[in-house]
Amino acid sequence: MVVDIENAADLLRYLRESKRIGKSEALTFRTLRGGVSNKTVLLQRPDGSRWVLKQALPKLRVQADWFSDPIRIRVEANALRYLPLVAPPNTIPKLLFEDLEQHLLAMEAVPEPHENWKERLLSGRLDRDLITQFGRLLANVHGHSYDLRQELFPTFENREFFETLRLEPYYQFTGERVPEAASFLHDLIQANRIHCVTLVHGDYSPKNILVYQGRLVLLDHEVVHVGDPAFDLGFSLTHLLSKGHHLKELRSAFLTAAIGYWETYKSGTGSAAWFGGVESRAVKNTIACLLARTSGRSPLEYLSDEERRKQKEVALHLMTQHPDTVPALIEEFGRRIEP
Ligand SMILES: Nc1ncnc2c1ncn2[C@@H]1O[C@H](COP(=O)(O)OP(=O)(O)O)[C@@H](O)[C@H]1O
Ligand SMILES: [Mg+2]
Repeated sequence: MVVDIENAADLLRYLRESKRIGKSEALTFRTLRGGVSNKTVLLQRPDGSRWVLKQALPKLRVQADWFSDPIRIRVEANALRYLPLVAPPNTIPKLLFEDLEQHLLAMEAVPEPHENWKERLLSGRLDRDLITQFGRLLANVHGHSYDLRQELFPTFENREFFETLRLEPYYQFTGERVPEAASFLHDLIQANRIHCVTLVHGDYSPKNILVYQGRLVLLDHEVVHVGDPAFDLGFSLTHLLSKGHHLKELRSAFLTAAIGYWETYKSGTGSAAWFGGVESRAVKNTIACLLARTSGRSPLEYLSDEERRKQKEVALHLMTQHPDTVPALIEEFGRRIEP
């Protein structure tokens, strides 16, 4: 039987029996919301230390029937071990323990007060410095992982969860629902399978970032794999562009930020041996994610129906004709999305 970490009595018993805490130690618990593929619980110990327990769900909390083997918690635990070697200091929470049988791990909680970056962006607070950090963090992960590939790659070669949690729901499913996009998405799925370049986060989104004392902390590493860095770029640029689409008054600021993000990333990686071809594939992944976030299994909840319709139309046009560079794509998106 797998313990239900959202049940406080069960969790307390589990932590005591597994000797993670003292026999009579009392705890306070709070269920954290925001994710759909895990149970996440914050607990505080009497000494004031705070842990986050994360337990992978076999069935995701979305409307569709969407299953994924909860053993993927192992990927997240490995990523929590390895990412501190390649990411800037203090950007990855410390792993405390993992229990593969229970599909769970514990990590240090990011201290309060912190803010979720997605919520901060949607409330219109767009800080240049955080955008720069966003670009640098990804450049470091991609660049340094490539340098450490002998050591890192064997641990992250399994791409099963990237297939089932990203390629299928975002690209394959979208191609089935939007036949005009099927061939573009089919080719891109193949490109993502072929290009095993460096460590890819796979969920590089403002939703998975907390801002603590003006610094970004990255969470949610269950899709980390060796793959195409262009995926992370397309996935993340789509979040900035879609927010710029939705927040009309801030649209030009978001488009400028997206270009700044790309430039920071490129200044950290552009001269690397593996960089060739990444930009044009990043363009394609951006267009694909722009569409997938309107018509895939996981549409962006903040886009209105009209915004979804418009973004779909623009993405479909860009699939037939698009620039080769990221800044030109961003400008073209901005021109076409104008009402
Ligand atoms: N180390 C942590 N410190 C503080 N809050 C966290 C931590 N890890 C996760 N959370 C909170 O829990 C939410 C869900 O965690 P996440 O890892 O994104 O799970 P999921 O895979 O279900 O999306 C996050 O958005 C964040 O608010
Ligand atoms: Mg998450």
